[in-house]
Amino acid sequence: MAITFRPISMICTLMSLFLTSSAQTCSNYTFLTDRVFSSCRDLPYLQAHLHWNYSPSTKRIEIAYRATQTSTGWIAWAINPTGIGMAGSQALVAFRHSNGSMIAYPTALTNYNPSMQPHALSFPVSNISTEHSNDEMIIFAVVGPLSNNTTVNHVWQTGSSVLKNIPRIHPISGDNVQSMGTIDFHSG
Ligand SMILES: *[C@@H]1O[C@H](CO)[C@@H](O)[C@H](O)[C@H]1NC(C)=O
Ligand SMILES: *[C@@H]1O[C@H](CO)[C@@H](O)[C@H](O)[C@H]1NC(C)=O
Ligand SMILES: *[C@@H]1O[C@H](CO)[C@@H](O)[C@H](O)[C@H]1NC(C)=O
Ligand SMILES: *[C@@H]1O[C@H](CO)[C@@H](O)[C@H](O)[C@H]1NC(C)=O
Ligand SMILES: *[C@@H]1O[C@H](CO)[C@@H](O)[C@H](O)[C@H]1NC(C)=O
Repeated sequence: MAITFRPISMICTLMSLFLTSSAQTCSNYTFLTDRVFSSCRDLPYLQAHLHWNYSPSTKRIEIAYRATQTSTGWIAWAINPTGIGMAGSQALVAFRHSNGSMIAYPTALTNYNPSMQPHALSFPVSNISTEHSNDEMIIFAVVGPLSNNTTVNHVWQTGSSVLKNIPRIHPISGDNVQSMGTIDFHSG
């Protein structure tokens, strides 16, 4: 009898897992400012999501990176054009400035102890903006054309504190060191 019932309880468990995770998917997320993105991915670490529109004619990618964060923390998203992981990556960072405004800017993570100061990236980036709403920080930007193709190694991050308007180091274990992957902006 127990064997007969097990598949039913397994199906119920799977269904509840599916329902729980589908409520959190990026695909039906609605931005406050009426921005619409045709592609998105729920990133597997740090409660983060990437939304984008790829324009084949301009080879530019309009992105929105959002992650759960409090008003005292920071978020960052980067493309690494030359390798995997943080070192060498070309980042966008956002946090609440001590004057009260949310700010976002590009910065190059040249090594594992980066200055986090504004710095030009190795590829074009424009239209950077940021907001903090519903317990999430969001970075909007337009990147590209990228030098190679539309498949990139990307890295994303969140950190809990900012000191004198400089993001402080994030945890160097667990999810914070696994938050990287490959993404194809063209095919999704
Ligand atoms: C997305 O869809 C799921 C399932 O239909 C729903 O539970 C969830 O509330 C939706 N989320 C948003 C942000 O609309
Ligand atoms: C806060 O500082 C940032 C960076 O200098 C600046 O862009 C922004 O306009 C400032 N906001 C206010 C309200 O002063
Ligand atoms: C970037 O911003 C400019 C000025 O606001 C706007 O005209 C342009 O359409 C934006 N580009 C994209 C790709 O969103
Ligand atoms: C560029 O694309 C080629 C072919 O897909 C790939 O082998 C190479 O690693 C890429 N180079 C960079 C810097 O991304
Ligand atoms: C882009 O680069 C990736 C990784 O190197 C490769 O698998 C893919 O075939 C390339 N695509 C094009 C269109 O060159």
